[in-house]
Amino acid sequence: MAVLIDGKKISQEIKDEVRDEISKKGIQASLAVIIVGDDPASRVYVRNKKEACEYCGIRSLSYELPEETAEEELLALINKLNADDSVDGILVQLPLPDHINEDSIIEAIDPMKDVDGFSRRSVGALSIGTKGFVSCTPAGIIELLKRSGIEIAGKECVVMGRSNIVGKPMAMLMLRENATVTVVHSRTRHIEDICRRADILIVAIGKPRLITHDYVKDGAVVIDVGIHRVDPDTNNGRKLCGDVDFDEVSQIASAITPVPGGVGPMTIAMLMKNVLLSAGNKIK
Ligand code: GUN
Repeated sequence: MAVLIDGKKISQEIKDEVRDEISKKGIQASLAVIIVGDDPASRVYVRNKKEACEYCGIRSLSYELPEETAEEELLALINKLNADDSVDGILVQLPLPDHINEDSIIEAIDPMKDVDGFSRRSVGALSIGTKGFVSCTPAGIIELLKRSGIEIAGKECVVMGRSNIVGKPMAMLMLRENATVTVVHSRTRHIEDICRRADILIVAIGKPRLITHDYVKDGAVVIDVGIHRVDPDTNNGRKLCGDVDFDEVSQIASAITPVPGGVGPMTIAMLMKNVLLSAGNKIK
């Protein structure tokens, strides 16, 4: 039976570290959070981000804009926040309504305040190994592995999924940590065979419980980025599950993240760390 990688506990440690550093050094940190429209999941994420700010002693500025907000209005707000020296981080919750171009919005954020790490400058810095903000979910997964005593260097790592937010930066980070990295996706052939080579399997495919023991080598470490509200077996809307069939895979993995309580809480903890980094001027 696999050891549980406890994201709840590790994310709490990180938030406590951020809080201690902010209070010890008297750092004034602030994060502007922008949400457009009323997507219920986005509202929950934004509320959790604001609560984490409060816990850590970070001032949060909240901008809740209606669905019909024009792209120009959003750009004007971002420009105002870019110019405001009291704002250390700017986060625009995604997805945005269809009439707003996400790429234009992300690129409008000052790279020095891009605490989500989504801009071309941040992604480029990660690729060539220079300083920059790293996107929070993949950065959180590295912390989960390190703080659970799992060695990365020299290991075979397979990343399932190639999104800009998780898969691609995850592959770059594992490479930076000296893993041998393979990225598989919907067009990959012999996907199960490739996944079974992994010492560390990171799953970010967005399909509930797709990953069964057929994809997992005995003793592998399995990280599940997925989160789905509907359990396919019970149709119980309140139950959460991941991309991995936890009951089955936990029998053969050496360590595994649960859903909930694995990767999820790490994203917000790493966001708090990025805001502290920005406020502490360490990245500028
Ligand atoms: N939507 C889903 N995940 C994220 C995230 O990490 N940051 C932002 N800004 N939007 C998201």
